[in-house]
Amino acid sequence: KSNRREPFHRFDAGKCTTTLLAIFEALIPPADEEKRRKQLLTSLDELVSGIWSEARLFLFGSCANAFGVCNSDIDVCLSIEGESATRSEVVCTLAEALKANHMQNVQALTHARVPIVKYSDPKTGISCDVCVNNMLAVVNTKLLHDYAQIDVRLRQLAFIVKHWAKCRQVNETYRGTLSSYAYVLMCIHFLQQRRPPVLPCLQEMEPTYRVTVGDIDCAYFDKVDNLKGFGQQNKETLADLVWSFFDYWAFRHDYTHTVISIRTGKYLSKVEKDWTRRIGNECHLICIEDPFEVSHDLGRVVDKHSIRVLRDEFRRAARIMQQEVNPCPALFEPY
Ligand code: GTP
Ligand code: MG
Repeated sequence: KSNRREPFHRFDAGKCTTTLLAIFEALIPPADEEKRRKQLLTSLDELVSGIWSEARLFLFGSCANAFGVCNSDIDVCLSIEGESATRSEVVCTLAEALKANHMQNVQALTHARVPIVKYSDPKTGISCDVCVNNMLAVVNTKLLHDYAQIDVRLRQLAFIVKHWAKCRQVNETYRGTLSSYAYVLMCIHFLQQRRPPVLPCLQEMEPTYRVTVGDIDCAYFDKVDNLKGFGQQNKETLADLVWSFFDYWAFRHDYTHTVISIRTGKYLSKVEKDWTRRIGNECHLICIEDPFEVSHDLGRVVDKHSIRVLRDEFRRAARIMQQEVNPCPALFEPY
């Protein structure tokens, strides 16, 4: 029935934005969390330096990309240049050292696509995932962080979308729904498409930052201080944007033919990416291009069953935003 967007919503944009902003503020990590993270990182640094003298640690993911809510795990990349051991071997060595150092719940996941060690630090109460030589994740973390500096509405929208996804249980890659990283890319792309745009496309601008990771050239304009005010022509409130975001993914996105790409700031076709067929476990039922690893579809985890779950949730959220005077309680109702 109501597959069409009505021209009006019932919420008052000012009031609904105030409610959404209160939720956003409550999700921001408190200052002491930052301190505890630093403490964990310092002791991890001491430990790894004792094993590999060339080792360096980099934070990535939500603890470094400006999209981290409170109490999230931290993601660390251990970089060792000129190491001859495989990543799985490094992961095993590190796991043994962490156990010897009285860390808790130490688990080495050596068979994952990216081998990691998971553990929790009893002193700070923080859980941590450590991967090895995964510099692309460090670079895309910087890209996301840089986008977040351009217009505050990106961080606000992404927090709301991530919070919604957690409440509705559609942020679980092991069950075929999308990662937080994928949701943030969806938000960036969405804000690049607004008219007037809220965000530019940094990878289409003259590069001021360039690194090569393996055979991938990562380059983009990173002088984002010069872009403050870029989105000012666009007057949409947070409530407007949340409404339009869900409306887009519920009723407007062409799941059959298109790929979203923050790298180009455009839509690409599945045909040009050769993402039209299922290959192995990769189904390409919702296509989100990674900004640097362009052969990588963040939607590849979504299968025939979970695409229905996901699209039903987008439609549910869009209807709530469309019909409710005060949409927040229903929007974030636990699944
Ligand atoms: P939360 O932990 O849910 O708060 O979010 P997060 O920002 O840490 O995201 P997530 O755990 O999904 O991903 C961590 C980081 O891994 C991302 O920020 C990316 O830098 C990197 N990454 C690169 N490729 C992928 C991928 O295919 N899937 C996921 N999940 N992460 C990727
Ligand atoms: Mg994370």
